Amino acid sequence: MHPGKQAAALAALEYVANDALLGVGTGSTVNVFIDTLAARGPRIQGAVASSEATAERLKSHGIDVLDLNMTGSLELYIDGADEVNPALQLIKGGGGALTREKIIAAASREFLCIVDRSKQVEVLGDFPLPVEVIPMARSFVAREIVRMGADPEYREGPRTDNGNIIIDCYGFSITDPLALEAALNAIPGVVTNGLFAARAADILLVGLDDGKVETIKR
Ligand code: A5P
Repeated sequence: MHPGKQAAALAALEYVANDALLGVGTGSTVNVFIDTLAARGPRIQGAVASSEATAERLKSHGIDVLDLNMTGSLELYIDGADEVNPALQLIKGGGGALTREKIIAAASREFLCIVDRSKQVEVLGDFPLPVEVIPMARSFVAREIVRMGADPEYREGPRTDNGNIIIDCYGFSITDPLALEAALNAIPGVVTNGLFAARAADILLVGLDDGKVETIKR
């Protein structure tokens, strides 16, 4: 396992209170967090999962998976990212779970993001920006993305957990993440996009290769 991901995941345990109700994201860094939590973390009341894959992993460790409609707001959401800028704004959705991730992040008081060093960038956009789209709007949304200056690519593979498709956008230089997030979300047929600017992370834990962790707060 990548030492940086492992270091960040381990450091995240410090933020988890006994008996907590946690929001849990998706991806390989979060998977390490889930396994570490089960092995050596405090006992938690349960978790709201941002994907079916995360729900399965939590359940495999005997952690209760709860419905956000029943829990109300959460104290803490823990998730990884594909890119993070100095303002702790993110690109997410490499794993296709962006919509549920965005919902849980918005419903949580604090968003703790765990990454390795490779995810830190000055300007977001080298990582192709994922957009979740209602299937019948695929071509229309792709044309709108071209009009906005990027190169859309339909992501092959299974539908998202919500039954939709993903379009990955190449070539956006994202100097105004808030504006681009809003503009993409305004296209009819877009469910949401992978920019987390309106709801950025609050705390970033960057795991380094030597096992140390850098903490950055917004
Ligand atoms: C999942 O949809 C993404 O938002 C993940 O948070 C992101 O891809 C990070 O994944 P890794 O931890 O595997 O790098």
